[in-house]
Amino acid sequence: MKTRLTIGLLAGMATAMMAYGATAQQSDDWKPKWNDKGELELPTGYREWVYLGSPLTPNALNGGEAGFPEYHNVYMHPEVYKIYKETNEFPEGTILLKELQLTIKGDEEDGSRTEVSGRGYFPGAYNGIDIAVKDSTRFADSQNWGYFNFGHHAPPYAQSAMAAPTEACAQCHIDSATKDMVFTKFYQILNTK
Ligand code: HEC
Repeated sequence: MKTRLTIGLLAGMATAMMAYGATAQQSDDWKPKWNDKGELELPTGYREWVYLGSPLTPNALNGGEAGFPEYHNVYMHPEVYKIYKETNEFPEGTILLKELQLTIKGDEEDGSRTEVSGRGYFPGAYNGIDIAVKDSTRFADSQNWGYFNFGHHAPPYAQSAMAAPTEACAQCHIDSATKDMVFTKFYQILNTK
């Protein structure tokens, strides 16, 4: 009986220690990971991060040629969200991940379709990933943010990506973004207390 209790106690302690280890590891999980070529690795689990919003620029409203006709679903790691809510700033190492999601093929000329809820646009297949990373050492020349494209197509996406040249991405964010290179005006969750 006594032995059983001891074994039970030891097993309990081991589980608690493992859980603690996992938490300790998790707390750093939100930081960007770089491979030995200096490329950013595609984060995992991002669809379970904090969802910021989905701007939509459909082809029908862009002469049939939207650069990104999909929903732009934007996510931020929960740890980063917590820090942002406390400080009102994007911490060093912030990753903003934008996953593109096609609208389901429409029956109307403007690409819309009718569902029981009404006529409109409805989210369909995933179709690409863009990422912005705040790192004042690597990206001092483009206002501390680097930009990455992991493919504009159906998954699987590239597992790592090189930073895009400033003129390809950062410049437009420098010129037009709302706050610290981010279009916060579209992400209500960042603007409400
Ligand atoms: C012509 C301007 C322009 C260019 C060029 C551009 N972006 Fe953006 N980007 C925007 C706008 C506007 C938004 C927010 C609205 C939207 O998604 O339509 C945005 C949003 C984002 C977001 C979500 C976070 C945020 O800042 O709001 C990421 C990530 C992003 N862009 C990455 C990229 C990458 C990577 C490239 C280059 C491959 C790029 N962008 C090029 C204008 C631009």
